[in-house]
Amino acid sequence: MIKRFFSSTSEVPDSIEVPRHVAIIMDGNGRWAKKRLLPRVAGHAQGVDRVRDVVEACIERGIEYLTLFAFSSENWRRPQDEVSRLMELFVMALEREVTRMHRNGVCLRVVGDLGRFDARLRELIAQGEARTQENNRLTLTVCANYGGRWDILNAVNNWRRDHPGADAEGLAISEEDLASYLSMSYAPEPDLFIRTGGEQRISNFLLWQLAYSELYFTDTLWPDFDAQALDQAISSYRKRERRFGRTSEQLLER
Ligand code: IPE
Ligand code: IPE
Ligand code: MG
Repeated sequence: MIKRFFSSTSEVPDSIEVPRHVAIIMDGNGRWAKKRLLPRVAGHAQGVDRVRDVVEACIERGIEYLTLFAFSSENWRRPQDEVSRLMELFVMALEREVTRMHRNGVCLRVVGDLGRFDARLRELIAQGEARTQENNRLTLTVCANYGGRWDILNAVNNWRRDHPGADAEGLAISEEDLASYLSMSYAPEPDLFIRTGGEQRISNFLLWQLAYSELYFTDTLWPDFDAQALDQAISSYRKRERRFGRTSEQLLER
């Protein structure tokens, strides 16, 4: 069954106390390690431990979708050694964590241009997704070799492939069509976007879906981000007035 979610630009969703979908750019691993005179990879390893904690904290808080940016389409530009270590960590994390996720009712999805990963990693991803696909407590999406521009272009190209006569028929792609071809079409748009590590930019994350998300930036480095830090982000979110283009007065009338 294909679920259809509201679109922030064509409808106005109900306000909710707990964000239904939280999307996080997990940044600051390298600086966390540098402060401790450790190699960058030590920061990434700590980062994996925080993923486990934050997944569990989200479950406890009733968050339904958690999306984590693990590796961007631009992160291949890093030194070869760091890229290899990140890939090894990804393999290790999948080997170690999927059982626990499954026990916790987590449905794992990995989105991005996975073709560039090696066979072992792709196999572990496929196994992890297959094993957890019936779970519905929390949908955890890991964005790997992901880029928002890649996602949009991919959606347009796949839509065109499926509608070969579109030009001749004068058929134009709609927002709804495009959203249904994005790699995260199974999830609603994020309510809350968090970026750790102090930078205030999107870095080619979910460009389409962040249209009306509440943005939260914190200086906390990802390896230090815990349940309390998550609660601070949620509490900031709860103070926001999500107007979706309307006025404050209109919100009071509802
Ligand atoms: C985020 O931490 C992890 C990845 C991008 C894979 P960084 O490695 O970017 O950490 P900083 O920004 O250098 O501190
Ligand atoms: C964004 O972090 C990507 C991930 C966290 C996976 P970066 O550290 O790569 O972002 P920039 O380069 O500072 O924008
Ligand atoms: Mg960074």
